[in-house]
Amino acid sequence: MRIVRNVAAIFMLAGLGFTGSVQAADDPIATRQAIMSSVGAAAGLGGGMMKGEVTFSPVAGKAAIATMNAAAASFGDFFPEGSDQGDTGALPAIWENADGFAAELAKFSAAAGKAMEASGKDGPADLDAFKAAMGPVFGTCKSCHETYRKKN
Ligand code: HEC
Repeated sequence: MRIVRNVAAIFMLAGLGFTGSVQAADDPIATRQAIMSSVGAAAGLGGGMMKGEVTFSPVAGKAAIATMNAAAASFGDFFPEGSDQGDTGALPAIWENADGFAAELAKFSAAAGKAMEASGKDGPADLDAFKAAMGPVFGTCKSCHETYRKKN
């Protein structure tokens, strides 16, 4: 059930491309957290297919990749000055070392952009193609979180 819901959410978010976000203007923390939640859902779907817990399909692979790509393109827009305060998992290092954070964002969007290209119009042809495309995107989570996200 959970996976079915996540897939629906991914299709919705990928379709919107985040352009229509209603919270963007007044609640950047909620917006960036919602974007990262979609990344978490896409990682759940993608990781599930990689582990064989979810049956691979090209269209689901493409949905996971498109979600990563949309998130990478929009996430960085929701860190205005002052939004380090409040209910957020973002560390002050984001604002203290803005260039370093931008570099992590650039790695994320480069990997997601490449995965988009590799997956073509119809999605990755098979699971190996999906792993090759998505693997580098997964590689970017940890290095950003390590420095810029609070530990739970
Ligand atoms: C460029 C930096 C960066 C990258 C890359 C990144 N994250 Fe995050 N992530 C963050 C930050 C910062 C937060 C905390 C946001 C906040 O609470 O304001 C976060 C929060 C999250 C959350 C919690 C969202 C919520 O509901 O509060 C999840 C889940 C998550 N990330 C998953 C991932 C996964 C999976 C990847 C890799 C595919 C990834 N992230 C890549 C910076 C990043």
